[in-house]
Amino acid sequence: MSARFRRIDSITENVGNTPLLRLRNVGRDAPGVEIFLKLEYTNPGGSVKDRPALQMMQDAIADGRLTKDKILIDATSGNTGVAYSLFGAALGYRVALVMPSNVSQARRNITRAFGTELVPSDPMEGSDGAIRVCRDLVARAPEKYFHSDQYSNPSNPLAHYLGTGREILEQVGDRVTHFVTGIGTTGTFTGTTRRLREHPRKISCVAVEPAEWLHGLEGLKHMEASIVPPIWDPSLPDEVLRVSTEDGWDMADRIAREEGLHVGHSTGANVFAAVQLAKRVREGCVVTIACDRGDRYFAPMRWEKHYDW
Ligand SMILES: Cc1ncc(COP(=O)(O)O)c(C=O)c1O
Repeated sequence: MSARFRRIDSITENVGNTPLLRLRNVGRDAPGVEIFLKLEYTNPGGSVKDRPALQMMQDAIADGRLTKDKILIDATSGNTGVAYSLFGAALGYRVALVMPSNVSQARRNITRAFGTELVPSDPMEGSDGAIRVCRDLVARAPEKYFHSDQYSNPSNPLAHYLGTGREILEQVGDRVTHFVTGIGTTGTFTGTTRRLREHPRKISCVAVEPAEWLHGLEGLKHMEASIVPPIWDPSLPDEVLRVSTEDGWDMADRIAREEGLHVGHSTGANVFAAVQLAKRVREGCVVTIACDRGDRYFAPMRWEKHYDW
């Protein structure tokens, strides 16, 4: 059967092998540089987080940390939660998610649709507040939960080492010079970079951070003002580029209008950083990540926040 018309037995088989798309318009100010976007939103849960969520679940099932009598719990306001929820439903495991109570209704509805239980945390404390509530729940009833803990779970970067990084080398290993992506849990950057560093030619790996500590680039972390994920190794990036919320949002709009891709704001920040880098280096091949799609952010719109649960 051709790969295109393959038949699969489980939705888990549809994770990874995402296409790499050449962006021809937003990088036209750097004509000597090819910019490629890896379309992670083509994963079944619609984001880059399907890879680590599935890896964390499969590894925990394999070594007995996750059993059918336990509830998988984690702090996530978004894409990882969608991924746990859909794979939990497909594989027959219960899932509970701690998320700030100001996340969009749409986001809550997606995870609830799979039967996931939602635990609200203080909206003013953001993702760090959700992490604290989650740790507290697990400490009080360790026998009840499998705490997947995407911020410290080595299976998170491993998914990108085995998948994202390997695929990029298969797709453009002959010419990639730079890899650029934003850091949240840091799994995507860490795992992919470790794989790319095994290539005999030097591939420069650039991390992207929000410029402001209070920002609208969902999924990304301003490290200085956050709980630093234990999986993060600050010595890993060749360089860190900081992108403002405004620039990330504007680039997401441009990608929709000029490339025909409706992407989320962290993708806007990734591509903004990739274009800045391309203008500086003048020739080469830059790969970056489309983490998710823009329709995940239809509500709340732009800076608008609703503090009702
Ligand atoms: C939309 C979006 N962009 C970027 C990231 C960052 O990826 P990572 O956690 O692998 O650093 C995430 C992670 O949740 C995300 O949901």
